[in-house]
Amino acid sequence: MRRWVGTSTILIAVLLTACGESTEAPPPLEAPPPTYHRDIAPLVQEKCGGCHVEGGIAPFPLQRYSEVFLLRTAIQAAVKARIMPPWMADSDCTEYLHDRSLSDEQIELISRWVEEGGAEGDVAEATAGPGPIQGGLSRADLELALPVEYSPTRSPDEYRCFVLDWPESEVRYVSGFRGNPGRPSIVHHVIAFLARPDEVATFQALDAADPEPGYTCFGGPGVAGNTVTWLGSWVPGSNGSDYPGGTGIRVDPGSKVVLQIHYNLSGANAAPDRTSISMRLESSVQKVAIMQPWANPAWVRDGGMSIPAGQADVRHRFSFDLVPVLSNVTRGVFRDNEPITVHSAALHMHTLGTRARLEIERKTATTECLLDIPRWDFHWQASYGLAEGKVVKPGDRIAVECHWDNSQPGAKDVSWGEGTEDEMCLGTFYMTQ
Ligand code: HEC
Repeated sequence: MRRWVGTSTILIAVLLTACGESTEAPPPLEAPPPTYHRDIAPLVQEKCGGCHVEGGIAPFPLQRYSEVFLLRTAIQAAVKARIMPPWMADSDCTEYLHDRSLSDEQIELISRWVEEGGAEGDVAEATAGPGPIQGGLSRADLELALPVEYSPTRSPDEYRCFVLDWPESEVRYVSGFRGNPGRPSIVHHVIAFLARPDEVATFQALDAADPEPGYTCFGGPGVAGNTVTWLGSWVPGSNGSDYPGGTGIRVDPGSKVVLQIHYNLSGANAAPDRTSISMRLESSVQKVAIMQPWANPAWVRDGGMSIPAGQADVRHRFSFDLVPVLSNVTRGVFRDNEPITVHSAALHMHTLGTRARLEIERKTATTECLLDIPRWDFHWQASYGLAEGKVVKPGDRIAVECHWDNSQPGAKDVSWGEGTEDEMCLGTFYMTQ
């Protein structure tokens, strides 16, 4: 017998022989126990490193053996329950870019490492991991920061919108986006909305009505209907991203950017923040893109999306033929009756949401999944890039389906709205023609 075979293997072999199973093939030789430096460190660096660093959004760093070893049981529980890393999209739906989730094998490896003692191993075995963060913004041509520092005053969550000047004097196309949290320990997400020149006054009025810098906003930028175009969004752990080659979102001179920041104070104290966003800009693109939220117009009207008190699974589903309505909504950017390509998708509900899904209902009566969030968590909203763009043709329908649980004691009837106690059900797509 070879020297390195573990004792447990020998025991199994002996037991099997004792049971008269000796005619069976010998059991496979057990792999040596996983070690931190060889097996675990590269995984933790890649899948956890964007957040679990000193000063990061996560409440503790996972950068050293001692830190990971100390928390090994909590780590095992969090990865097995798929709570960590936060990645809400179900990979059975479709393939996403920069998928941060752990595979079954990786979860098993972490679990085995914990159960077999959490050995450190030899630092010489350390392999260079693929690096903490994938994707990334390749070029930052314009950086826009909050006009002043802002320190959140509500705990644990505050949603604040800031109106930022757009300095360019020619038409530009935003072809990539990244958020740069001023204080990473409290910035939970950033969404940049585009206020076109004729929409600017509405946002300035909201800003002027609030004496502090910016104004309170929750579900969206604070405008009823929530159909304002997005420029980009950012969540912790992301290094930003370029939009698909040759595409970009048009911004006219005289526009503004409305930046929504979600501050969360559950892991750190309030402190002054001056978050900024970086964008890659082009003076022309082959394909103009839009990033647009979609919902049933009837939901947005008063009472049109009723979520009665006392019901544990309220479902609303709406599907629409995307192509014909687009030319209107995009103000002529998209041509009527021509296929569009969806490159990324996001879902949005508020805090009663339990699960949600976006699908393409093909004219041919088949259904294709675009985005599936089986366990909705308001705290971890993100836009998911599709590994391959999906073409939607005239006659195909896009379906948005949301589920809510409104059965908690003291529940009130809920419907569509911008407030924390209201709900929404939106799909947002980055699309080109
Ligand atoms: C996108 C940022 C992010 C990434 C990536 C991430 N975490 Fe976390 N983690 C957090 C935050 C923030 C918390 C605090 C709880 C919360 O807000 O959900 C947390 C909490 C935890 C906890 C405590 C959970 C509990 O029960 O309270 C563990 C354990 C953990 N993370 C392990 C990991 C591991 C292991 C990875 C990688 C496999 C990972 N995390 C990746 C942000 C992240």
